[in-house]
Amino acid sequence: MEIRPAKVSDVKGMHDLVERYANNKEMLHRSLNAIYENIQEFVVLENEGKIIACGALRVSWEDLAEIKALAVSEEHKGQGIGTKIVKRLQENAKELGIQKVFTLTFKPEFFKKLGYVEIPKEMLPHKIWSECVNCYLFPDCGEVPLIFSLN
Ligand SMILES: CC(C)(COP(=O)(O)OP(=O)(O)OC[C@H]1O[C@@H](n2cnc3c(N)ncnc32)[C@H](O)[C@@H]1OP(=O)(O)O)[C@@H](O)C(=O)NCCC(=O)NCCS
Repeated sequence: MEIRPAKVSDVKGMHDLVERYANNKEMLHRSLNAIYENIQEFVVLENEGKIIACGALRVSWEDLAEIKALAVSEEHKGQGIGTKIVKRLQENAKELGIQKVFTLTFKPEFFKKLGYVEIPKEMLPHKIWSECVNCYLFPDCGEVPLIFSLN
């Protein structure tokens, strides 16, 4: 099993995976359209024709990108797959010349284990004023912002 860039044929599988967790309030909802439009940001892990994990990297600014839409299917949790997806996205960020990656998550402890450090949301003005303001959960989503230096 190898993490690879997502294809349009993976979108419904990714959407199903994310929606299952979003319905459980573990992640934010993400429309099919939002995934199609941003397909180049996504990586996936496929097993026997099924998408079992996904994640995305979105560039925010000259030195900053966001890790988002991270999900591992219930049956495959706890096998290091989430870690591998995050590391692959970090590699992608490095290749782009990005110095820091951040995330907004309901699972801060998972990211802290990978070296991410909690920061105040005010440190992410681009994110807040470009995306968060349009979110159905703004302003009190409860997600925790964390950052990681790639240097
Ligand atoms: C959070 C998630 C991506 C972790 O993926 P995973 O493949 O199960 O994680 P890994 O197996 O790589 O775990 C790495 C370490 O993090 C720990 N960990 C995993 N999930 C955790 C959580 N929710 N809280 C605290 N620690 C967690 C593991 O115990 C492991 O610790 P260890 O190295 O001491 O053994 C996965 O549980 C998931 O998809 N959850 C639902 C969606 C979600 O919450 N996405 C996060 C973005 S909001």
